[in-house]
Amino acid sequence: MDLQLVTLVCVSILTFFILKLLYNQIQNSTNLPPGPRPYPIIGNILELGTNPHIALTKLSKIYGPIMTLKLGSMTTIVISSPQLAKQVLQEHSQIFSSRKVPHAAQIFDNHKFSIVWLPPSAKWRKLRKACATRVFSPQVLDSTKVLRHQKLKELLDFVKEKSIKGEVLDLGEAIFSTVLNSISNTFFSMDLSHSTSDEKSREFKNIIESCMEDGGKPNVADFFPILRPIDPQGFQARTTNYFVKLAKIVDGIIECRMCSRDDSKVSNDVLDSLLTEVEGTSSQLSRKEIMHVFLDLFVAGIDTTSTTLEWAMAELLHNPEKLAKVKEELCETIDEDETLEEQHISKFPYLQAVVKETLRLHPPAPFLVPHKCDEVVNISGFQVPKDAQILVNVWAMGRDPTIWVNPNMFEPERFLESEINFKGHNFELIPFGAGKRICPGLPFAQRSVCLIVASLVHNFDWKLADGLITENMNMMEHFGLTLKRVETLRVQAILA
Ligand code: HEM
Repeated sequence: MDLQLVTLVCVSILTFFILKLLYNQIQNSTNLPPGPRPYPIIGNILELGTNPHIALTKLSKIYGPIMTLKLGSMTTIVISSPQLAKQVLQEHSQIFSSRKVPHAAQIFDNHKFSIVWLPPSAKWRKLRKACATRVFSPQVLDSTKVLRHQKLKELLDFVKEKSIKGEVLDLGEAIFSTVLNSISNTFFSMDLSHSTSDEKSREFKNIIESCMEDGGKPNVADFFPILRPIDPQGFQARTTNYFVKLAKIVDGIIECRMCSRDDSKVSNDVLDSLLTEVEGTSSQLSRKEIMHVFLDLFVAGIDTTSTTLEWAMAELLHNPEKLAKVKEELCETIDEDETLEEQHISKFPYLQAVVKETLRLHPPAPFLVPHKCDEVVNISGFQVPKDAQILVNVWAMGRDPTIWVNPNMFEPERFLESEINFKGHNFELIPFGAGKRICPGLPFAQRSVCLIVASLVHNFDWKLADGLITENMNMMEHFGLTLKRVETLRVQAILA
């Protein structure tokens, strides 16, 4: 080995140890929560693996319910207990309600208009208020439910047709289209996922699916902001492309509606209600803001809701005795030829327990949407630094054996005698988050998930396709923007 090479190796080893020493000193002096030792430069990135929710749950068993990870240059604090989640999301909500905005979300200054990424500013409150009053209030949901019932009927007709032909169906795919159309009809009274022959709707569906796929992949530009200008994985470029296309479609729909309103045509949907507000003299909303609200709601609502539905059906097929109990509850309460509607849901406690149990085991957003710490604060005796990313590991809390008996089993019965719900008050079950940033779409999701599961169970008997038996079902999750099933849910429906 020549002298230059030996010098280089020695200098590298020395630099490695100096950096590590420096990091440890900084960590000790700032009293950060404990965590695995980071490597120089990359930090703990390699520890995340392909299923970060599982990796971080294992690490929290070693380092405790509040721990520090260094993801590249980003300090990340992981919270894994209901007590600490309550401190972060409720008691210190003033400090923890901002977002760590991913690089890809910053195209066209989208983060300055988006409910998902805005800090809890006056603008964010205005958009949340518009959602609460014009989209998700009980009155609006009641007045738009006829549009969703129609989409459900189409799903049931589709499944019936498949069942008569004895054909196998990909239930996840059918559910995805139904949820997409339920949301698009609630907003615009139109389908955005038609048959594959419709160019525009096929494009819309493809874009949403690509957004979901890309959104779930780690972007090194988030871990090393210095790399942002070169966009090494091309995220920025792809997101720009999706955004431009989605914005064009949604803006076109708004434009078209504004013209038809001039002809005094009235639709009883969310877009109409928002445009009425825009035209009002005291309007606070602009057309651009309306477009952003719709984009946010589509991206945040479709995959979360359809993934939950697919998991609920998968768990019921995996546990036939629970499926039978749901059926029994429905048969006892509803006449055979009666059509199920959203207002019936409150009559089905077991079905509601099934949905809670599904969200306990498979929260679509296992770390919520990352929060950010706005100032140095003491949590549980440790200092959480300003600008740290905060991940609340709801997946870990849902599987914690100190909270739940048989945590890995699907046992809806656990909720029958319990007051626990997912509305942000019981911190052991917060799949929708809690506090200021709690999901605004919760009322929509609750109605849709309960009604679609109930209707699929009530109208059909179900059998796994391809000769698969329940014991051999693959119930593994795949980490992405939402926690999806590793295997598609291929089933055969039999008319009940
Ligand atoms: C089962 C279905 C759903 C689940 C589990 C879910 C879960 C979540 C979670 C965990 C968050 C982040 C909370 C936090 O950061 O603390 C969130 C935020 C959000 N969700 Fe949902 N969601 C669902 C359905 C929906 C639907 C149907 C819509 C709209 C149509 C929607 C719109 C939003 C929006 C706009 C935000 C951002 C709120 C903010 O940052 O202020 N979600 N959701």
